[in-house]
Amino acid sequence: MNLEKLKDIFSEKFASKENIRSYFAPGRVNLIGEHTDYNGGYVFPCALSFGTYAIGRKRKDKRILLYSENFSEIGVIESSLDELSYNKDDEWANYPKGITKIFKDRGYEIDSGFEILYFGNIPNGAGLSSSASISIVTSILLKDLFDLDIDKVEMSKLAQKTENEYIGVNCGIMDQFIVAMGKKDHAILLDTNTLEYEYAPINLENISIVIANTNKRRGLADSKYNERRSQCESALKDLQTKLDINSLGDLTEEQFEENKDLIKNQTNRKRAKHAVYENRRTIRAANILKKGDIKGFGKLMNASHISLRDDYEVTGEELDTLVSAAWKNDAIGARMTGAGFGGCSVNLVYNDKIKDFKENVRKEYKEKIGYAPEFYIAEIGDGAKKI
Ligand code: GLA
Repeated sequence: MNLEKLKDIFSEKFASKENIRSYFAPGRVNLIGEHTDYNGGYVFPCALSFGTYAIGRKRKDKRILLYSENFSEIGVIESSLDELSYNKDDEWANYPKGITKIFKDRGYEIDSGFEILYFGNIPNGAGLSSSASISIVTSILLKDLFDLDIDKVEMSKLAQKTENEYIGVNCGIMDQFIVAMGKKDHAILLDTNTLEYEYAPINLENISIVIANTNKRRGLADSKYNERRSQCESALKDLQTKLDINSLGDLTEEQFEENKDLIKNQTNRKRAKHAVYENRRTIRAANILKKGDIKGFGKLMNASHISLRDDYEVTGEELDTLVSAAWKNDAIGARMTGAGFGGCSVNLVYNDKIKDFKENVRKEYKEKIGYAPEFYIAEIGDGAKKI
């Protein structure tokens, strides 16, 4: 789908193309640092070249008209600047509605209605942040149409707030941040505690980042996600009875081992162990990559998966099958990426082995799981922008 075609569809839905402006926000893949972002730890994601396009313009009245070419059967969803409460029936449109409401509540002046057409090419339900992408593309559109004085970091904070308070998923800030701030051919090492960040060049030469999709529907993912988060919070409380810390990200592995018995509940202890070790692993991985040690980086990716499988318990049969097949088939590193419970794995594979890798992993996965996975070669793209 190209932009001109989308503009034509806009014109069909909203009567003309006059004064329209176009924007894009990517999806993301996280290389390492999983379930650390709500534990005050580091993450190491990059933005992808696929994402969400939005074409929009202001209206003279207070009506808000939202249409997605991905859900054309639903048609245009209407709300108003004065009535932006969450409505289950509005489905995907709750994201732009929520963003608009949170912007207004923060005092950003949105003084008229608007109409937007969306189109996304992020595989649906793959855990590659299609919701952060739609939230951030809406944010930069609102900034531009209404001339708002807001930067991309603030946008990511408000998009996270929308997800937490309006949609009801207690996510951290990783997805919104990378979708807004990503940079072509770079990952971001982000300290989610301070929001200090550093761009890290990803020059892989003869290696590609291969994303493999389990194609599993992510059914109960949101409630399990929220459960993991509260288990970590509870573990932190136990540790704070003795230690002066603000988050699990404040601990080294040694400090954790010395004090882990403070965490009474065994399950919570495992969750906290993952958060602490994964955070340290992420810092180490970014350093190793700087030195060009891609094999060392791959080993840390593998260790990340094992910790997410055994201690955090967010992988499941599909992701485990995909990742162990990758390990057997020459992946330099392979792990689940994103929230887990389905979604995708991320793999580092030598270019001349990609064909065999895909064939063998597909075969093994299909035999065990019953349906085929899908593969995409990741291109690391820019964060949100006007186009
Ligand atoms: C989801 C959330 C992120 C992060 C990851 C797990 O993508 O939106 O905030 O917690 O899961 O690392």
